[in-house]
Amino acid sequence: MAFRDLREFIAALEKTGDLVRIKKEVDWDVEAGAVSRRVFEQSGPCLWFERVKDYPEGFTLLNGPVGTWRRVAIALGLAPDTPVREIYREYEKRLENRIKPRIVDRSEAPCKENVLLGDEVDLYRLPAPMLHEGDGGRYIGTWDIVVCQDPETGWTNWGMYRFMVHNKNFLAGWPQATSQLALIMKEKYLPQNKAMPVALVIGAEPVCHMVATAPVRPGEDEAEVAGALRGEPVDLVKCETSDLLVPAHAEIVIEGEIPADIIVPDGPFGEYPGYRSGTMAEGVAFRVKAITYRNNPILTMTTLGVPPDDSSIAASLTAAVGMKKGLERRGVPVTDVYVPPEGVTHLVIVGVREGGTRVTRKVLDFFTARRVMVNKVIVVDQDVDVFNMGQVLHAFATKCHPGRGMLVDYHEGRANALTPCYSAEERRRLKGAFVAFDATWPEEWPREVIPVRASFQDIYSPTTREKVLARWQEYGLT
Ligand SMILES: Cc1cc2nc3c(=O)[nH]c(=O)nc-3n(C[C@H](O)[C@H](O)[C@H](O)COP(=O)(O)O)c2cc1C
Repeated sequence: MAFRDLREFIAALEKTGDLVRIKKEVDWDVEAGAVSRRVFEQSGPCLWFERVKDYPEGFTLLNGPVGTWRRVAIALGLAPDTPVREIYREYEKRLENRIKPRIVDRSEAPCKENVLLGDEVDLYRLPAPMLHEGDGGRYIGTWDIVVCQDPETGWTNWGMYRFMVHNKNFLAGWPQATSQLALIMKEKYLPQNKAMPVALVIGAEPVCHMVATAPVRPGEDEAEVAGALRGEPVDLVKCETSDLLVPAHAEIVIEGEIPADIIVPDGPFGEYPGYRSGTMAEGVAFRVKAITYRNNPILTMTTLGVPPDDSSIAASLTAAVGMKKGLERRGVPVTDVYVPPEGVTHLVIVGVREGGTRVTRKVLDFFTARRVMVNKVIVVDQDVDVFNMGQVLHAFATKCHPGRGMLVDYHEGRANALTPCYSAEERRRLKGAFVAFDATWPEEWPREVIPVRASFQDIYSPTTREKVLARWQEYGLT
């Protein structure tokens, strides 16, 4: 059964020992961020900071809702120790049955328990954290859902984009030029010099946030995708100041608009690839018109940085499924796709039934044509478990030819302004080099010349394996 809200999810995490309540007062100014960062780097629990300096009791911070695979499994209603491969499978399977959201009345929407409008709007009433030293400001939107709409088609987009407090009624953010929000703004609002209505949602139940990180195609309803993954409809409620619909059980909703004619400074920020992003630069302005929140609001955050954290884990799952389907459509004999969190969506492992240069080239062409941030892919044969990085590294080291095994496209990859290895020029053009490593046996090699892998599975006959396995406990082994 799905969690109705973040609070039910927190209770589940507490039961399985995946959440720690911090009862001592903690400073929103860097301290909560530093604690969270260290705990991420230990793959530790979700942290609930119950007393935040300068804020009334009940205004709390929660770091890392899905910062481990265990918490992702729990969010999806699976056993905490479900293997990553099975989490991927279940995610893919559930996506097949979309479930439409339920529109509820405001009386059924806890996010309306407190409503600040007009002059009452003051972002400083919420304990936005200064997450890293050197950040440009207090990022209130990290583990968020930013809702906007295409005014022509009526399609609603959810995206997770960072937003920091600029002053009491303005936020500054950085939806990348390739994000759906930026595209809708550029194509549908800017030409008419119109402000775009937006809502920034904080602390909805975890699956909705995971879906906001997914590269869902325009026209696809992310609330329906979240419904599919939850197995139950998402409850949505209308905003106070626009017709946008937001998750009714969210902790906090910040409503407003992105004006066509205002730019505010944003960043720098300790970012998802694991480095601080450049310098303060031109950001998107978000004029706040209303803030609504539950009693005792829980402000969710994710102290991004070197993996693992919510970003690398959630994106591993949400990015991979679309890639697998896309590769299949292109005729790649794909068996599995894994986006290892350590590779922060810049590295992808693709398993194929038949390998070789031709197939690897197809894989490369698929990625360079897509709106994704990948710049390296390793293609492996199907006897390599793509989820096992030890096996992938072994195949890469032994099967990838240092010359013909490296297929480089110098210009066509989709560059990301945050990709650390790209030159300033590549980041500016949003296009950069892409490399596919062919760690498969060449298709033209006859079977006899392909070396037998010296593993228990491959180098021993079934008779020997069966005999040894049957006597395993006799040897005193478990
Ligand atoms: C914690 C977190 C923060 C993110 N911040 C941003 C951001 O500030 N700008 C951005 O363009 N993408 C950001 N992303 C990536 C987007 O959420 C992701 O690309 C998503 O697909 C965007 O939705 P869209 O495809 O509807 O644009 C972030 C992802 C995570 C997990």
